[in-house]
Amino acid sequence: MDLSGRRVLITGGPTREHIDPVRYLSNASSGKMALALAEQAAAAGADVTLVTGAPAGDAGSADGDFNVVQVVSAAEMAVEVRAALTGVDVFIAAAAVADYTPAAPSQQKLKKTGEGMTLQLEPTQDILRSVAQGPDRPAVVIGFAAESENLIDNAAAKLEAKNLDLIVANNITEPGSGFGTDTNRVTILGRGDYRVDLPLMSKWAVAGAVMDEVARLLGENSAGGGS
Ligand code: CTP
Repeated sequence: MDLSGRRVLITGGPTREHIDPVRYLSNASSGKMALALAEQAAAAGADVTLVTGAPAGDAGSADGDFNVVQVVSAAEMAVEVRAALTGVDVFIAAAAVADYTPAAPSQQKLKKTGEGMTLQLEPTQDILRSVAQGPDRPAVVIGFAAESENLIDNAAAKLEAKNLDLIVANNITEPGSGFGTDTNRVTILGRGDYRVDLPLMSKWAVAGAVMDEVARLLGENSAGGGS
């Protein structure tokens, strides 16, 4: 597959939503899937930017094959995605973005009181939805769905609700699949009942399969066809 001349923007990793300067809400995403996607897209010749919440060192690309923008929170990720969006052909949201963030994070370290406490949370912006439904929508927009039940139905609903071209669905309760592993077993869903069930494979190989789909979709979109 050849993606030369194409611009690809990828989100990856967890976000951290700070409660105070030392404590945060986060999740177990390693950023490995997004890293594999960035490497595969760069290997196919694309101009790639990875916006990631994965810790430095896990984020990848010391060798300059693609650009890495390191972020902490969902709000920062939204800002950096928006800043990088102009001219992008393909947007892939592989990040495990926090859906909620503390409404009033403390500037100082919170002290224990011996009492219980309640943390007020407010929703974050859905980055994928705002890109897919926004005025600068790239030609191809792909989301990920990490589900623990009703995999296909939930993923198909997200494909529709977020106006995506493809969704990569994985069941995080399956052995070898999901957060932190080097492997993944995914089902790729597209518009009009398009469905590809892939076997358990390395995240690198899953990323290659996703890039094949990207090339196919770009080929369908371009006047001249081909990929
Ligand atoms: N996503 C995003 N911004 C958010 C939340 C999610 O860009 N604030 C993206 C993820 O990167 C992923 C897709 O949306 O590609 C699915 O995210 P998920 O959290 O599974 O779906 P939700 O719509 O948040 O639904 P729920 O948490 O109820 O499963």
